[in-house]
Amino acid sequence: MPTDDEAVTLRPATPDDAAAVAEIWYHGWRDGHLGHVGDDLLAARTPETFDVRAAQRVDDTVVATVGGTVAGFVMVVDDEVEQVYVSARHRGTAIARVLIAEAERLAAANGHQYAWLAVVAGNARARRFYERSGWTDEGPFDYTAASATGPISVPAHHYRKRVRFT
Ligand SMILES: CC(C)(COP(=O)(O)OP(=O)(O)OC[C@H]1O[C@@H](n2cnc3c(N)ncnc32)[C@H](O)[C@@H]1OP(=O)(O)O)[C@@H](O)C(=O)NCCC(=O)NCCS
Repeated sequence: MPTDDEAVTLRPATPDDAAAVAEIWYHGWRDGHLGHVGDDLLAARTPETFDVRAAQRVDDTVVATVGGTVAGFVMVVDDEVEQVYVSARHRGTAIARVLIAEAERLAAANGHQYAWLAVVAGNARARRFYERSGWTDEGPFDYTAASATGPISVPAHHYRKRVRFT
């Protein structure tokens, strides 16, 4: 079991990381979403779609590594923290807080005072983590998730955090 003492390294993803990102993303997505989203989104999120999206989104991805292995990642676009994922074996360690801090830094560097993210109501672990990290639940809204068959409306909660004070 990894511990908080193991060094976490952040770096921009490269195309060579796409397979590891897809693996963490696929399993993490299921952990956070099964039973909490509609059948339309579940049907759209096949294993192959994570391979495709991880490869397409390399430029938006920062990975956290432990001992040279990818243990988690974030994707930030403009002021939106689109994805925060930690592999199952590295949850409950320092990695998630290192990643969310990096995501907040990136949103601030993109010129924004506030960052936002969407999380489905039933993803209790993620919501607890965001709240512990200083994010505020601003209530329910409909998030538009992209898919190969077109946009899918997903009931979610809108979280926000101030990331820049100047
Ligand atoms: C969300 C995620 C990045 C958080 O990282 P993590 O390492 O698991 O976070 P932590 O363990 O530090 O914190 C999670 C909090 O939820 C609590 N928790 C753990 N399991 C829980 C559960 N089943 N229900 C509710 N809370 C839970 C933990 O005790 C902790 O709260 P605490 O600080 O009050 O003790 C990680 O769980 C993950 O990758 N999940 C799958 C992917 C996902 O859902 N991503 C977010 C999409 S919006």
